[in-house]
Amino acid sequence: MNLTYSLPESIQAILEKNKKTNNPLNTLIRQGGYMPPNIDLLVDAITALSMGKNILLKGPTGAGKTKFAETLSNLFNQPMFSVNCSVDLDSESLLGFKTLSYEDEKQVIEFIPGPVINAMKHGTFLYIDEINMAKPETLPLINGVLDYRRTITNPFTNEMVTAKDGFGVIAAINEGYVGTVPLNEALKNRFVVIEVPYIKGEQLKQLIQTNTELKDDKTIDLFVKLSADFIQAVYQGKLSEDAASIRALLDACDLSVVIPPKRAIQRAIIDKLNEEREREFIYNLTETLF
Ligand SMILES: Nc1ncnc2c1ncn2[C@@H]1O[C@H](COP(=O)(O)OP(=O)(O)O)[C@@H](O)[C@H]1O
Ligand SMILES: [Mg+2]
Repeated sequence: MNLTYSLPESIQAILEKNKKTNNPLNTLIRQGGYMPPNIDLLVDAITALSMGKNILLKGPTGAGKTKFAETLSNLFNQPMFSVNCSVDLDSESLLGFKTLSYEDEKQVIEFIPGPVINAMKHGTFLYIDEINMAKPETLPLINGVLDYRRTITNPFTNEMVTAKDGFGVIAAINEGYVGTVPLNEALKNRFVVIEVPYIKGEQLKQLIQTNTELKDDKTIDLFVKLSADFIQAVYQGKLSEDAASIRALLDACDLSVVIPPKRAIQRAIIDKLNEEREREFIYNLTETLF
């Protein structure tokens, strides 16, 4: 079965009106773009972004959040500046920094813009990855950028920067992940939330067919079944969400072209887990399936 997606006409019109894309959705997906579990997810993300709203992609690791952001940036024909949040994220990594440089042999202080200022000045997308990894006091710095003002006074230059048309913010969050802090309410308030689940069934099958070296239909079906069992086990509390990561599953699919699937699963999935109970669970599942 070949899944093809078609965007509703109203959404096509949004993209066309803004001369956003010459890339139909299905081409993007075939080229390794984000495969949505259903079309609503895309429609809602495109709608929100086209109305100038910030979107927050919420979902477990390896669910395709970063891929989704890249695909949106392609659909809107809009380059993307990225920030990767961590506990060390500071105003410089968001906004930029000052440095000494030379102009006609004269020493001058130059400001090197960071991703936030770059995206605002160029009117492009800004991707804020793992937004809940940042220390709670860092991000409020850009609250004004994230609301209707779309403005910030750059503390390094005292320049008031207002975002150019086309500026848009996509953030990603993996709630409850180790090292993360709950996202501050004022910050969360500034986003429209799009849940990004692990894909399954036909979608997952097509993703494996297009994104991995694995071509054997029977083996692909087994991996799809394995993933469905993982997801069920996550619901039942038998597995942590990370164990069901699509990223790891795709790695296992690739490896299994050359080495036996069981060993591929061992390397790509089982050996990453710390809990003996979880390892054993997947090991047994693999034994029965493969
Ligand atoms: N729905 C999906 N569509 C396309 N690729 C996906 C999807 N889910 C997972 N992947 C693949 O899994 C890997 C991890 O995706 P990524 O976007 O980095 O996940 P996240 O940012 O949610 O951790 C990538 O290789 C990506 O192509
Ligand atoms: Mg990511």
